[in-house]
Amino acid sequence: MFEDASTTGQNSKKGKVGDHSRLDVLLWDKIQVMSHRQRIIMAIIIGGSLIYFTITQVLLVVAKAPSEPTQPEFRKICTFSLERETIYGPAEEESLPIIYVVTPTYKRPEMVAELTRLGQSLLLVPRIHWIIAEDNRECSPVISNLLTRFGLPYTHLVSPMPEIYRKERYIPRGVSNRRAALQWIKENGVNHAVVYFLDDDNAIDIRLFEEMRTTKKVSMWPVGLIGDYSVSSPVVDKMDNVVGFYDGWPADRKFQVDMAGFAVNVGYMKKQPKVTMPYIAGHEEDGFLKSLNIRYEDVEVLASGCTEVMVWHTRTTKNPTRSLRLDKHQHDNIKRLTDNMRQMGMIK
Ligand code: UGA
Ligand code: MN
Repeated sequence: MFEDASTTGQNSKKGKVGDHSRLDVLLWDKIQVMSHRQRIIMAIIIGGSLIYFTITQVLLVVAKAPSEPTQPEFRKICTFSLERETIYGPAEEESLPIIYVVTPTYKRPEMVAELTRLGQSLLLVPRIHWIIAEDNRECSPVISNLLTRFGLPYTHLVSPMPEIYRKERYIPRGVSNRRAALQWIKENGVNHAVVYFLDDDNAIDIRLFEEMRTTKKVSMWPVGLIGDYSVSSPVVDKMDNVVGFYDGWPADRKFQVDMAGFAVNVGYMKKQPKVTMPYIAGHEEDGFLKSLNIRYEDVEVLASGCTEVMVWHTRTTKNPTRSLRLDKHQHDNIKRLTDNMRQMGMIK
């Protein structure tokens, strides 16, 4: 039998009231024996803490960091290669438009596993140029090594998130690095190409690449495992026109899409005067697409008229970054094993 919620509530409330009154008496006794000076100091400490707490909370809400930074972000190109040198997958077909796949990433225990899984999907696809954009000041050797080993055309760059955004209540993740990738594409990308944002915690069916490859302006499709509806998708009428979005978090967005749910033609993007991805958590996609001057009628709908899921926001369980004790293993394989794990950022 279920307990009567109201009785349970009352009981627990009574308990709390009792505790409080005992605490009050104790505090009151303490205050009584304090000197005048001690009471003033206590009042200053409590009052000061309250004022500090209120001001910081108000600042967090009111003084939001700007969506465009006031100073240029730090950006650096680590290494790049325009040649496909892998023995895996199809031969390169020069006539095909290139797909610039932009993957933001950051150091954590899962990073190398994520990039390996994603990169080995990309090996199956011709005419891919993989841009791994690290949220970091330094270029991680483990990423350079991985990219050289895979042999795909690639660019490895770094651009750390500016400090002001790290302090935000909702952090715009992966924005500084995606913006750096966009700049690289604007400066070095060929026009006969498309750009696609594929976060490192996603899983993709490689058939989607062939669908997006011929995008004229912008193409869209559903993304699985997003939000309250387990999917985010354009709503499409009988004529294949986008008429709205099916997404559990509308949030006043014109384009209610996930980062993995669209591709953009590079030539078209370069013609737009003010392309940007704003530092506003949850509104990066909408802000970017608006800056491209896209109308609903411009959107090409893929994945069989947005009826199929070909990419998923799978996500990965977060693991702690442990520091391991190795006293007993200074002379066996475990020493080198853990050294390698440290290089991959799996342990401290
Ligand atoms: C999604 C979007 O991709 C983010 O741009 C957005 O900030 C976020 O939703 C939001 O609306 O709050 P989400 O899946 O929530 O991101 O976050 P992650 O998967 O942790 O990060 C997105 C991408 O940015 C990943 O590729 C991740 O590796 C990278 N990232 C994450 C960084 O580069 N730096 C970080 O500190 C965290
Ligand atoms: Mn994610």
